[in-house]
Amino acid sequence: MPDPKRSVPLCIPNLDAAELDAVAEVLKSGWLAHGPLNHEFEHKFREFLNVPHAVSMNSCTSALFLALVANGIRGEVILPSFTFVASANAVVTAGATPVFADVEYETCNLDPDAAEALITPAAEALMVVHYAGQVADMARFAQLAKKHKLLLIEDSAEAIGAEQHGIKTGGWGTGCFSFFPTKNLTTGEGGMLTTRDAALAAKVKALVGHGIESTTLAREKKERPWLRAATYAGYNFRLSNVLAALGARQMDKLEAMNEARRKHAKRYDELLDRNLFDLPVERPGFKHVYQMYVVKAKGFDRTRFLATLKEAGVGASVHFDPPVHTQPFYAEAAYPQGALEVTERLAASCVTLPMYPQMTDDDVAYVAACCNRAARELGR
Ligand SMILES: Cc1ncc(COP(=O)(O)O)c(C=O)c1O
Repeated sequence: MPDPKRSVPLCIPNLDAAELDAVAEVLKSGWLAHGPLNHEFEHKFREFLNVPHAVSMNSCTSALFLALVANGIRGEVILPSFTFVASANAVVTAGATPVFADVEYETCNLDPDAAEALITPAAEALMVVHYAGQVADMARFAQLAKKHKLLLIEDSAEAIGAEQHGIKTGGWGTGCFSFFPTKNLTTGEGGMLTTRDAALAAKVKALVGHGIESTTLAREKKERPWLRAATYAGYNFRLSNVLAALGARQMDKLEAMNEARRKHAKRYDELLDRNLFDLPVERPGFKHVYQMYVVKAKGFDRTRFLATLKEAGVGASVHFDPPVHTQPFYAEAAYPQGALEVTERLAASCVTLPMYPQMTDDDVAYVAACCNRAARELGR
C-alpha cells in the first residue's frame, strides 16, 4: 500500500503563467520597490474582504506589530498560546505584555470564556488567531471587545477568505494577513493590514515607509517630489512591487484556490477514520478555508505516526508544538496565563496533513489511506 515512488508534500505554492508573466513585466519596467502593483493588490484585497482600507507590507508579523504600535498598545494583550510564535513576538516587540488564554478543543481557536476570564484593568487588546483557516467566534469576540473597550486584532495569517455570518476575517477587527508560501495566497514573503479606520490606515501606511506620509509613486506626480517629511519615526516594512505583482495575480484565483482546499477537506472528512482521529469541524454559519487540514491523534504515538507517513512519502507535520508559553523565551519571562490544558493537549496530539489546491483526488485518497493504516497499526 505505501508506494515508494509516491510523494505528497505538505504544501506547494500554486503559481502559474499569470504570476510568472506579471513578475517578469515588473522586472522589465524597472520599478522594483513599492509601486503601482501594491495599489492593485491592495485594491483587490479590499474588494475581496469588503473593507475600506488595506495596507500591504512585508509580513504578517509587521502587520501585527503595527496594529499594536499605531494604536499605542503597551498594556496586556490576550491571545492564544496555541499559535505560531510570531503572534506573541509582535506583542513583546511592540512593548506590550502577552497574556495567554486557552483554546477550544474542537476548533483550536481562542476560547471566548477563557479569554474573558483573563481581562483585567491592564488589558488593552484582544488578539484572536484564526487557526488553520477556521474563523474564531468573532461575533462573540466583537461583543467582548466592545464591552471591555479592547482593541480587537485578528491574526488572519492562516485564514484568508474564512468568514462568519458572511463577514470575512479581517473585517471584524484590525486584520493582519500573511502571504508566506504555505498560506491561502502567497507572495513568498508578505503581509497586509486591513481596517475600517481611515486614520489608522494612514498612520500604518506611513509607519511602513519610514514614517513618511507620501509614497515615492505619489510624490512623482508632485511639483517637488524630493520633499519627504517624516511624521513618525517609522520602519521599512514595504512590500516590493515585484511581490505585489505576484499578490495581485494570486487574488484573481483566491476563491478558486480556497474552493479546491474545501473540496479536498471534504474528501479527507469522508475517508479518515473517526475512531482514530478527531477531524476539523465547520460550525454552522462559519466558513473554513483549510489553510491546513489538522487532525488530532487518538490513542497512538504521534512521533511514530509521522515517521511512518514520512516513509510513505507523505509530508505531514505539526502546528504547533511546543505551544508559545513553553518556548524558552516565554517560559523564562513567565507572562500571565490562564489554565492551558487544551492547548497542551492539542500541541501533543495535532497532525497537519498535506493540503494545497492542486492536490489530486488520488493524492488525498493516498494520504488518508496511509494515515488510517499507520494509526491502526500503531494503536494496536
Ligand atoms: C498565526 C500566524 N501568525 C503570524 C504568522 C507570521 O506571518 P509572517 O511570516 O508573514 O510574518 C504566521 C505565519 O506562519 C502564523 O501562522
